[in-house]
Amino acid sequence: MKIQVIHGPNLNMLGIREKNIYGTMSLESINRLIGEAAEKLKIEVSIFQSNHEGSIIDKIHDCYNKYDGLVINPGAYTHYSYAIRDAIAAVSIPTVEVHLSDIQDREDFRKISVIKDVCVKQIAGKGYLSYIEGIEALLHRQEEN
Ligand code: DQA
Repeated sequence: MKIQVIHGPNLNMLGIREKNIYGTMSLESINRLIGEAAEKLKIEVSIFQSNHEGSIIDKIHDCYNKYDGLVINPGAYTHYSYAIRDAIAAVSIPTVEVHLSDIQDREDFRKISVIKDVCVKQIAGKGYLSYIEGIEALLHRQEEN
C-alpha cells in the first residue's frame, strides 16, 4: 500500500508557530514519527509540504493511479479551498483529512471544512497522532475491501 501525506500552509512552522495550540514538535519530528509508523505497518509513505494551493493541487493530481490513499492536513485551506476539494474528488483516491488541533473547539471559521465531504474520514485534535490514525484508517479500509 502506498500513501501520500500532504501538509498544507504554515505547517513547516510547527515548533515555532502558536505552540500553545500546535505543540512544540517540529514538522521534521512529526515526519520521522510518520515514517516509523509506516515502517511498522509495512506501508510506503511519501511526505510533501507546501504553502501554495496550486502546488498542493498538482501533488494531488500526481498521485492519480500511483497512490492508494492520501492523508492531508490542508491547514487554513481546509476552510475555503474548493479547488483542493475538487482535486481530491477528481483523483478519487481515498483521503483522510487530518488536523493537529481540534477545529471544532476553536474560532467559528475553523469549524467549517469544505474538504470533509470528499474524504472518507476527518481526524482532528490528536496532535501528530491524527496523521498516524489517518494512515491506519486507510490501511484498515483497504484490508476490508
Ligand atoms: C490546522 C487547523 C487549521 O485551522 C489551521 O489553519 C492550520 C492547522 C491543524 O492542523 O490543526 O494551519 O489544520
